[in-house]
Amino acid sequence: MFVETGTYLGEMINAQEGNFDRLLTVELDPELYRKAVRRFRRLAQVSVFQGDSSVELPKMVAAVNEPAIFWLDAHYSKASPPAVRLTHLSLRTRVGTAAPI
Ligand SMILES: C[S@@+](CC[C@H](N)C(=O)[O-])C[C@H]1O[C@@H](n2cnc3c(N)ncnc32)[C@H](O)[C@@H]1O
Repeated sequence: MFVETGTYLGEMINAQEGNFDRLLTVELDPELYRKAVRRFRRLAQVSVFQGDSSVELPKMVAAVNEPAIFWLDAHYSKASPPAVRLTHLSLRTRVGTAAPI
């Protein structure tokens, strides 16, 4: 099983879909999530989740009962949409970092 946080455009899922029987990925941004759902709609082995990985990942892995590779790639970038920037601002506030975003 392959478990990814941070779907973005789905390139990693696309690259790995032939290598795993089951692939799970979660994306925070609703528009990127919708694009990924569209992109992978014909691949039954791929499940796309929407939300903050810190909340969704525990739910996703609750069903994992086999060896899994975790690709933890959910992070902020300058190209991140507003919802992602806000979540990271909130996370930074919670952990007390002062770095500007
Ligand atoms: C570097 S891209 C991921 C690239 C993708 N994993 C790949 O290899 O093709 C990072 C993605 O993480 C998403 N992201 C950022 N924070 C997130 C969070 N807390 N939960 C889920 N996704 C998040 C961003 O919106 C962005 O799409």
